[in-house]
Amino acid sequence: MANIVVLTGAGISAESGLKTFRDLGGLWETHSVEDLASPAGFRKNPQLVLDFYNLRRKQALEAQPNAAHLALAELEKKHHVQIITQNVDDLHERAGSSKVLHLHGELRKVRSTQDASLIYDIDEIDPENLEIHVGCTCEKGSQLRPHIVWFGEMVPEIEKAAELCRTADFFLVVGTSLMVFPAAALIHEVPAATRKCIIDPNLPDVSGIPNLYTIQEKATAGVPRLVEKLLG
Ligand code: APR
Repeated sequence: MANIVVLTGAGISAESGLKTFRDLGGLWETHSVEDLASPAGFRKNPQLVLDFYNLRRKQALEAQPNAAHLALAELEKKHHVQIITQNVDDLHERAGSSKVLHLHGELRKVRSTQDASLIYDIDEIDPENLEIHVGCTCEKGSQLRPHIVWFGEMVPEIEKAAELCRTADFFLVVGTSLMVFPAAALIHEVPAATRKCIIDPNLPDVSGIPNLYTIQEKATAGVPRLVEKLLG
């Protein structure tokens, strides 16, 4: 049994119908990051931000895990598999992966703007529509916000993720442009001697990473084939 650590990004959910951020037609091409994914944007127009995440939540809940998510869950049959994801959808969990660490938050959760430790499942707040609006408050009476890490905010789980990467026997990267830090720096926490692989149809810059091989394919093609080898 090997300790396999997998870092995923928006690309692994692309074939489930969820847009990535920086590809052609990606979310940040058609929407303003500053207005929708920053504390300043939320202060300026909270309903605009809440509507954006209400829509993304609806889309994520309507999406289904694809062959890449399912293959990673399958890998647990023989190996210890830790998923570290930048994604805020729950497709890894719905595919059956038992160890999923979300670096950038989760669409299924909302939290207090006054006390970040007050985190709720959206089902508790609005079981019918799974939405939050201006005026939806926490038990302390402060406005609720999506439990998402916005630009300029801390990534509370980053040290835990780095620790997990340091213990990897095999490190796999799927569907991330490796452009957003600190997540993109995690690959440097993986020991030089550890075998590494990246799966992406448009390979990001991974020059200088030791012991790395690349599979220039979409996730639903590349991941199941790699998993078959790792289970072989
Ligand atoms: N299979 C595999 N990879 C794919 C596929 C696919 N079908 N389609 C696209 N990709 C790849 C792209 O080539 C790109 O490298 O997925 C990557 C998507 O990159 P981004 O859109 O930058 O998404 P990501 O790296 O997850 O973004 C990181 O930025 O906006 C913030 O918080 C947000 O978590 C996000 C972070």
